[in-house]
Amino acid sequence: MTVQTESLAGVDIRAEIERLRKERNAVILAHYYQRPEIQDLADFVGDSLELSRKAADTDAEVIAFCGVKFMADTAKILSPNKIVVLPDMDAGCSLEDSCPPEMFRKFREAHPDHIALTYINCSTEVKALSDIIVTSSSAETILDQIPEDQKIIFGPDRHLGGYLNRKFDREMLLWPGVCVVHEAFSETELLKLKAQHPGAPVAAHPECPPTIVDHADYVGSTSGILAFAKSFPGDTLIVATEPHIIHQMERALPNKRFIGAPGADGNCNCNICPYMALNTLEKLYLSLRDLKPRVEIEESLRLDARKSLDRMLEMAAGTVGQGDLGAR
Ligand code: 13P
Ligand code: SF4
Repeated sequence: MTVQTESLAGVDIRAEIERLRKERNAVILAHYYQRPEIQDLADFVGDSLELSRKAADTDAEVIAFCGVKFMADTAKILSPNKIVVLPDMDAGCSLEDSCPPEMFRKFREAHPDHIALTYINCSTEVKALSDIIVTSSSAETILDQIPEDQKIIFGPDRHLGGYLNRKFDREMLLWPGVCVVHEAFSETELLKLKAQHPGAPVAAHPECPPTIVDHADYVGSTSGILAFAKSFPGDTLIVATEPHIIHQMERALPNKRFIGAPGADGNCNCNICPYMALNTLEKLYLSLRDLKPRVEIEESLRLDARKSLDRMLEMAAGTVGQGDLGAR
């Protein structure tokens, strides 16, 4: 566990981040689920696909990745010559945890005639065991390119996989993982909220269970939800994904109202991703100052994982996101 022991009293954290960003030739990449203060000083804020593309293309020498471990790992896989730091190495993901590589290997071996289409929210080892990686914004474009008679296993998110199966009339075999954040939304509370705001559309991430997705007017990735927020004609939107994304909506559309969908206790705070929340400005400062915690990946594993990521980048080439809404 990353424990911050030294006192940072008297340190102007924001000014120091500014100084170190230049001194280190660093780029700060942040996911939409990061704390607002991190989103606001990031060089680029985006969804998983956009952040992967940025990591692959950047000229910076250091990538300070404000997201979770699988995202920082992805940056290192795509940019091996860069130093990649993650402010808190404990920033994991319940989907990654649900899919231990050895169990995934056995699942694959049990279905030799299936290809493995795998959600990016997984370990580097699982990426290395996969044929094609997808993100939530690229999954539909990529699945559309796979022949209908090709058998597929999809992991680790059974809700995203189930949503794709229903939408594309496929029968992919699903790994039983879930995102603890999206799993926590309550259908009963959502229906109550809809009744309080008649006519307000619901935008949901496909990591939500069907009980939530079935009530959504729009289903898509974080960047897709942001695009929907910019285009829907009404004045109130119910947002069924991690609530920190609402920061970008309020920045872009200050006159509209965005309400986070509730969890079972009627309070949307239970949908804050506990892993994303581990990153703080203080830890970001320390990671730029000390160039650690650093992501390191063994080279042959990296090369194996890179193949499935490269396939995603090729097959998703036409997919456009929204990822500059929070850019400085
Ligand atoms: P996207 O940003 O790709 O929609 O993914 C959301 C997510 O699961 C981040 O953990
Ligand atoms: Fe993982 Fe869910 Fe957190 Fe995304 S929101 S990092 S899928 S636990």
